[in-house]
Amino acid sequence: MIQRFDTILKSGTMVNQDGEGVRDIGISGGRIAEIGTLAADRAAEVIDCKGLHILPGVIDTQVHFREPGLTQKEDLETGSRSAVMGGVTAVFEMPNTDPLTVTEAAFTDKVKRGRHRMHCDFAFFIGGTRENVQALPELERAEGCAGVKVFIGSSTGSLLVEDDESLRRILQVIRRRAAFHAEDEYRLNERKPLRIEGDPRSHPLWRDEAAALMATERLVRLARETGKRIHVLHISTKEEIEFLRDHKDVASCEATPHHLTLVAPDCYERLGTHAQMNPPVRAAEHRAGIWRGIEQGIIDVLGSDHAPHTLEEKAKVYPASPSGMTGVQTLVPVMLDHVNAGRLSLARFVDLTSAGPARLYNISCKGRIAAGYDADFTVVDLKRSEVITNRWVASRAGWTPYDGLRVTGWPVGTFVRGKRVMWQGELVTPATGEPVRFLETLKP
Ligand code: DOR
Repeated sequence: MIQRFDTILKSGTMVNQDGEGVRDIGISGGRIAEIGTLAADRAAEVIDCKGLHILPGVIDTQVHFREPGLTQKEDLETGSRSAVMGGVTAVFEMPNTDPLTVTEAAFTDKVKRGRHRMHCDFAFFIGGTRENVQALPELERAEGCAGVKVFIGSSTGSLLVEDDESLRRILQVIRRRAAFHAEDEYRLNERKPLRIEGDPRSHPLWRDEAAALMATERLVRLARETGKRIHVLHISTKEEIEFLRDHKDVASCEATPHHLTLVAPDCYERLGTHAQMNPPVRAAEHRAGIWRGIEQGIIDVLGSDHAPHTLEEKAKVYPASPSGMTGVQTLVPVMLDHVNAGRLSLARFVDLTSAGPARLYNISCKGRIAAGYDADFTVVDLKRSEVITNRWVASRAGWTPYDGLRVTGWPVGTFVRGKRVMWQGELVTPATGEPVRFLETLKP
């Protein structure tokens, strides 16, 4: 009996663990059923992908979607709409909402809000605090949980665990890889007087390289001491890259498109507070250092750190202006432009956005194009040249630091578990988002 498919993606150039080549992909029941040369009459629907590249669905492992509590900036629906418009098929969302995502009630509420209201699949981090430490081993294994996230330097919101003793207690009790915002709170406090009112160029002076490196060094020491795995989010310095190269056994790390694309002081002069982010965008030598981390394989994943604030909030005078910029929708086009410019290969992009997240977080059935896996795809036109604009950005915040930037390489399709969610810039399917499954959260 020849199997029939729901859908065949016909004649696209598939990029996966096998390399790159023209293949048809048969989809059945939301899963990849067969890869090869497939007769068109075997499916109810055939989608012509000739001339397009089909990548494993891009998983953005760091976004802030602000629901509940801060929905003037974003919510789970608008944030995930922005994600799929940009080719992203799954997101891991952060716990600095209001209330903070630090209890079982707050966590399950978020999963409930996300299910079939989000346009992409999703997982949420549980915030680690001094108060919830005993509950973390249970909470980190909840359905839809990406793991524990800890801010060891304060950023947007009140989540903060700055001292080694409390960090040690968290690491001792948890089992999964935990993710960290690594800036040393003590140093940030000491250096606050360096902020210059009205001048966001002073942001990287206040939150300097040493603050980032000190925090990352402390984390690695605690990971060794406790025998646990850590993930250092949004690396911003060349020194952290050099340091982490020698600690890959316990530490994984993330780079963001903005730290790879923007540069100080230019970004602050052009964009003002719109370039203000924690940890900050720094001088060219650091951007080059992070690219070296990509080249050398030290960076494991790309995350956008999509952190929307309204234009009114961003219009406050520095340092009253909040840190954060949108990014989930621009991750794919900005990085494909870097691919076209020869800064990384398409294979490395795939490694950073699908295979990398799957390996680090033990994701079940996502992260590669393989029979039996979820039919999540990011379909891109590598040759298409487009200008990124604020108008294109579906985030409620409604702006991007890349407004006016011409890029080559564009997301033209987003498939989530076999459903074509976005095609040629249109949202074409109602929201069907489900929690991402992890090996550690699968129920027996
Ligand atoms: O700039 C930032 N904004 N960095 C963070 O770590 C948090 C984020 C936010 O939530 O606004």
